[in-house]
Amino acid sequence: MLGKRILLIIGGGIAAYKALDLIRRLTERGASVTPVLTKAGAEFVTPLSVSALAGAKVYTDLFDLTDEAEMGHIQLSRVADLIVVAPATADLMAKMAGGRADDLASTLLLATDTRVLVAPAMNVRMWTHPATQRNLATLQGDGVLFVGPNDGAMACGEFGPGRMAEPLEIVAAIEAAFGSGPLAGRHVLVTSGPTHEPIDPVRYIANRSSGAQGTALAAALAALGARVTFVTGPATVPPPAGVTVVRVETAREMLAAVEAALPADAAVFAAAVADWRVANAAGSKMKKDGSGKPPALEFAENPDILATIAQRKTGRPSLVVGFAAETDAVIDHATAKRARKGCDWIVANDVRPETGIMGGTENAITLISAEGAETWPRMTKDQVARKLAARIAEALA
Ligand code: CTP
Repeated sequence: MLGKRILLIIGGGIAAYKALDLIRRLTERGASVTPVLTKAGAEFVTPLSVSALAGAKVYTDLFDLTDEAEMGHIQLSRVADLIVVAPATADLMAKMAGGRADDLASTLLLATDTRVLVAPAMNVRMWTHPATQRNLATLQGDGVLFVGPNDGAMACGEFGPGRMAEPLEIVAAIEAAFGSGPLAGRHVLVTSGPTHEPIDPVRYIANRSSGAQGTALAAALAALGARVTFVTGPATVPPPAGVTVVRVETAREMLAAVEAALPADAAVFAAAVADWRVANAAGSKMKKDGSGKPPALEFAENPDILATIAQRKTGRPSLVVGFAAETDAVIDHATAKRARKGCDWIVANDVRPETGIMGGTENAITLISAEGAETWPRMTKDQVARKLAARIAEALA
């Protein structure tokens, strides 16, 4: 953090008071903070308290001619190592997602080539509104980092997600963004979730993968400082903060997204990819034809994404990790799968129904590598993720 330059945009909202504490936490860690206060932000905290805590001039208006002479907004957007928006209102997120530039804050965010970390704060209904969730997805796709919001009681009296992350959580997210961990400077690709293979425009074939293990792993890798590209099918668990999210539906889209995200230092294939797609998917909704005969679906094999990447002649990530869901002879099957697919490691899950692992919070895995099989004690999916992320960091060191 020492010597890092942070441009802090303070949006309007009751959480703006926490931005004052954030400034203090950042400056005491040796960072320099250039504050920008939006018009709405200035309704909640005064420019004087912001500049006093930051020990720096506070920028407030796009058309301040003195500021333009001193430091133009384009330059202001470029001199930072990271731009932090805290609190980010629904309106500010909408402006960012739409590429609008009608005040100083939104202009800086559009003009910058620096990474941006956003700490949203808003009413729970505003946060869960499809428009905000759409904007969130757009911004994550653009590589914008997020921290929070957290669940809890809100100043407006409602309860749920929408509270801004605490200043120390934002500091941790900033540290991770600066990549001070063992995976700093490394790019890791993670696939996650199920795929949906269309039958017709309204029906599809899918599986029960929640995306929990892939999501936990992507979060653990990002926490170690990796730049993570998270290619996810339609999972039930939301994607983690601080990663670049690429949303896909089908196996073929997933392969294309993975290939587009290369080069990577490591790639982990945690997605439950459908092995087959419907070859004769209909372009319009299939109707009962009155004959009482069910339609005959034909299947075609999907590309094996893991095998395709593991067997690449050029641009193969130096560590390629696959998953295997097994119910019996776990080590034998997973060892054969490792050889067949050409990957470096296989993380084998014991998914016998009595284990409760599928859809549960725990996992029991055996890591298969060239060195042999290593069975880990049963632990939570988060613990598996952290242990696996640490092993990946060791392997890439
Ligand atoms: N995988 C993939 N693309 C596919 C199928 C699988 O990338 N089209 C990856 C998965 O992400 C996972 C591993 O390959 O890392 C699982 O391999 P798979 O052969 O599907 O094994 P299981 O799901 O364990 O099932 P089975 O052994 O019955 O084939």
